[in-house]
Amino acid sequence: MINIENNDIYIIILLLVIVSSLIYRYLNVLRKYLKELIHVSNRVSEGDFSVKLKNQYSGDLGRLSSNFNFMISKINTNIEQLEDRNIKLKSILKSISNGIIAIDNEQKILLINDVAKKLFDNKECEFDGQKIDSVINNEAMMKAIASLIPNREHKRIQIKDKNDRYYKIKVDPVYLKSAKNVVIGSIINIEDITENVKLEKIRSDFVANVTHEIKTPLTSISGFVETLKNNDSIDIKTRNRFLDIIDMESDRLRRLIDDILVLSFIENNENEKEKYDSVNLYSVFKEVYDLTYNLAKNKNIEYKYEFSSEDINLKVNKDYIKQIFLNLIDNAIKYTPENGEISVFVIHKNNTIRISVKDTGMGIPQSDIPRIFERFYRVDKARSTKIGGTGLGLAIVKHIIISIGADIKVKSALNRGTEFIVTIKE
Ligand SMILES: Nc1ncnc2c1ncn2[C@@H]1O[C@H](COP(=O)(O)OP(=O)(O)OP(=O)(O)O)[C@@H](O)[C@H]1O
Ligand SMILES: [Mg+2]
Repeated sequence: MINIENNDIYIIILLLVIVSSLIYRYLNVLRKYLKELIHVSNRVSEGDFSVKLKNQYSGDLGRLSSNFNFMISKINTNIEQLEDRNIKLKSILKSISNGIIAIDNEQKILLINDVAKKLFDNKECEFDGQKIDSVINNEAMMKAIASLIPNREHKRIQIKDKNDRYYKIKVDPVYLKSAKNVVIGSIINIEDITENVKLEKIRSDFVANVTHEIKTPLTSISGFVETLKNNDSIDIKTRNRFLDIIDMESDRLRRLIDDILVLSFIENNENEKEKYDSVNLYSVFKEVYDLTYNLAKNKNIEYKYEFSSEDINLKVNKDYIKQIFLNLIDNAIKYTPENGEISVFVIHKNNTIRISVKDTGMGIPQSDIPRIFERFYRVDKARSTKIGGTGLGLAIVKHIIISIGADIKVKSALNRGTEFIVTIKE
């Protein structure tokens, strides 16, 4: 039988009281700690990484607190780094001029830049997560992409869509970093090359036209030279006529080459105002007047001119102004029949210089007006060639107008006359 004495009972009760008050205190601490932990973890899960557990405990709770705080700051730095990378990636994608789309193996869009969105022209559509064939409404483009995706190597094709726009499409497979032969998606790169293709076409048309324009006078020159060489008996009159034709055709060739050189000079030289001295428009016009006066006189064309002031000056390449006057006046005289009239008006008003070259000639059909500034374009090829044009004069004028930031307008009525108006802002 256990014999417990009264004293012992007191001691046991005392111990029990001490132990339970210790447990009570510990539980209190634990409850407070848990409450703080729940509060802090709630804030973290809401994205507030500035909170921290108060590190006022020793032992396991103290270690748990410092580990928890470390975790919060680690998550915070990781998120900041991810956000930073995301911003950089987005800025890179934004600054790429090509359309870029990243898709997964199910062809769902993971990433797409604004250029690509614009190319698909699907304004209402939400792109992220959508299957690529449901957002591309350009049939030719989708066909090309679909044919490229199954390829496991880098491939590209060039297409032309139904709106006559040209694209270069490239699809690169994306491999898993750790396993080089596992494809996890593709990067589609779409480049709009319409302007390049058009420029290329203009260039090749230009070469074809130049070749053609050179061939005609050359054939004629070599034909007459051959005839003169092989026929000693040609009378002096016929001989001189042949020589005149050779002279005229060589002159035509020289003018053609001069015009091509002028065109290429304008295309390759930006008009930097600072580079040029002030040019007096009246004196440039007078040079052109002296050059063209006889052309008009030979056709009995009345040649009038009027300047609002003889002191109109402009900081520009002098040859450019001369080319404008020369080509417009040359046309006015060429395309005006005998006894007609041409007039040149130059008005300086409100910081704007307006040059008008007007004639009473054959006029230009309305349907041809948009095309007369194209290289080698002549309204009536047979008529213009007889008059002597190569069709480069107005192309030169147009290039100069663009280069100096001016504007040109045409008003014309068939058999009544034409007016070219150049407006230059100072
Ligand atoms: N004042 C005008 N009146 C009637 N037709 C014009 C006039 N100016 C231009 N054209 C038409 O526009 C075409 C293009 O003119 P442009 O000056 O470029 O070539 P061109 O005069 O034929 O040749 P180039 O000037 O190279 O000797 C001309 O062939 C002509 O048919
Ligand atoms: Mg001309």
